[in-house]
Amino acid sequence: MARAGGKVILFGEHGVVYGRPALAAGLSTVPTAELVSAPGLTTARLSVEPWGVTVDAIAPDASGHAPAAATNQLALAFGAIVAAYEQPLALHVKVKMELPSGAGLGGSAALSVAIVRAFDDALGIARSSSEAADIALRAERVFHGNPSGVDTAMAAAGGVAVYRKGQPLQTVVAKRRITLVVGHSGEPGMTKETVASVARQHAQKPEKVEQIFAGMEAIVNNGKSALERGDLVSLGQLMELNQKLLVTLVLSTPRLEEMCTAAVKAGALGSKLTGGGGGGCMIALVSDEDSGKAVQEALQKLGRDAFITMV
Ligand code: PMV
Repeated sequence: MARAGGKVILFGEHGVVYGRPALAAGLSTVPTAELVSAPGLTTARLSVEPWGVTVDAIAPDASGHAPAAATNQLALAFGAIVAAYEQPLALHVKVKMELPSGAGLGGSAALSVAIVRAFDDALGIARSSSEAADIALRAERVFHGNPSGVDTAMAAAGGVAVYRKGQPLQTVVAKRRITLVVGHSGEPGMTKETVASVARQHAQKPEKVEQIFAGMEAIVNNGKSALERGDLVSLGQLMELNQKLLVTLVLSTPRLEEMCTAAVKAGALGSKLTGGGGGGCMIALVSDEDSGKAVQEALQKLGRDAFITMV
């Protein structure tokens, strides 16, 4: 049984696509992958529960791109992983997804890392977390277009870490336990679209967008030291600041805003969207589990799903 974890981005999403750092934390909810017996199979096959989906790998063409006629993203993403093995893989891998996909919680990256680990196990390949993340990144490119790599790195490594494109993960040791409430807006996350929208804004006004990213980088650095000091009040304030910067890039939605406001009203120290935005999830920092329950209830009163998680 191979595993990989989801993640929340505490600070720095989107800037991380442009080489800025992001601070992320692994979630304990994990997808699991296992190989099942498949006599007579001639190609690699993927089944995902509870989606009830089974696909056969579609190989990228010689240039490494998707064949023009191919439309099934999951089969293409899976094919990109299979192609990395450079050998025929007649294996059937079954993945159980506990994470919602398209929620900004790194579900697709965790799915891909779990598949890589299941194949590696079957083939007796020993690989470091960062090597597994590199292979999973090929699938993320199919799902997301231009991923920074933070989701796959976190899915493979877990814990709390600062990620910067092309660099090894920098582990952060938090002085105290951090309690978060994760709320789902019920709107699908739009990572591919929001990353493309930020790219357009960057192309039109590079200086303005880089200034916003510089602000986010300062928030990541301050957030790291607040975690190391165990300073929850500062962490909460930094979340609020980060959210304001994300709003200036038009990444939030009225529903996410309503949830963030309700969370703070119910006692959260700060809150923000997490991941790509345009829908998906928000996170709220709380001082303890009781306060977490009050925030969770406030979100549920708005009709939103919410769960409490520890970092
Ligand atoms: O929505 P998610 O969980 O895939 O997170 C995306 C994070 C971004 O910074 C917006 C994109 C990226 O590839 O880093």
